[in-house]
Amino acid sequence: MATPVIIVHGGAWTIPDNLVQPSRDGTKCAARAGYAVLDSGGSALDAVQAAVLELENDPTFDAGTGSVLTANGDVEMDAVIMDGKTLKSGGVACVHNIQNPINLAREVMEKTDHCLLVGPGANLFAEEVGIKKVPTESLVSDEALRELECYKVYGNTVDDLFRQRGTGHDTVGAVAIDSQGNIAFGTSTGGISCKKPGRVGDSPIIGAGGYADNEVGAVSCTGHGESIFKVVLAYQIITQMKMGVSAQEAADKALANMAKRVHGFGGVIVLGSNGDHITSFTTERMAWAWAKEGVLHHGVNPGEDLTEPVINENN
Ligand code: GLY
Repeated sequence: MATPVIIVHGGAWTIPDNLVQPSRDGTKCAARAGYAVLDSGGSALDAVQAAVLELENDPTFDAGTGSVLTANGDVEMDAVIMDGKTLKSGGVACVHNIQNPINLAREVMEKTDHCLLVGPGANLFAEEVGIKKVPTESLVSDEALRELECYKVYGNTVDDLFRQRGTGHDTVGAVAIDSQGNIAFGTSTGGISCKKPGRVGDSPIIGAGGYADNEVGAVSCTGHGESIFKVVLAYQIITQMKMGVSAQEAADKALANMAKRVHGFGGVIVLGSNGDHITSFTTERMAWAWAKEGVLHHGVNPGEDLTEPVINENN
């Protein structure tokens, strides 16, 4: 038997001041949703899916409703889920008009022999499995529109993305271990503001945007996708952990390496099969929360670690 734990993130980058409180609330809510699944004996896969679903439905976050926009104002989303017991995964990339890409990713994992479906093929599969289309407008938030205008004015090089104060929020994700010791991760994103139509980031790519292996642990990444791709961030952390490095040291080192080698920034949540559970980020902020043994920890700013009961009179 293992002690169930769930960690969620609501994305790295600047996180503008007006999104700090909603990001706190949203990540806490998602951690509670995932923990409720684990606490009632549910699987790590179901817990990460439940947590990511909450984050996708909250317009605060860059995933599902609230996804940031392509250069032509469209919504194109990526999501993935992975089972650390079997190493099976399902991902979708560049999907349109789907409220919860994480549910579609789970269907890819459960009902196909494939790891990743993209674009029109992913949308066709959504129809086949009965996931209904939603209008693009229903996925667009005021914040996403504001951010697109900002990036159109100032450009979208990596430097610009990370140096514009007051804009920038990213990807959501979750990692969990259940009472059976099974581990999973799930990630979902609208990508980066002002991206070219058809651009796919790190998130749905196994090893780059995340990984889960019962024998080692799980990682979900957030941050600049092209940088995360280049250093294969999640698998770099898993490889270090396989060699006995702690989750915290592996994550800190991998993010420092990404900054040094490709001038890229981001954040990770990491769970070890040995019970480690940590967060690390090199951006100004990252919204995160984790729940274990009835206690919820959460933070947004560097060094912050606030606690409260998972269940209290206000939720
Ligand atoms: N990390 C999300 C993306 O770059 O698409």
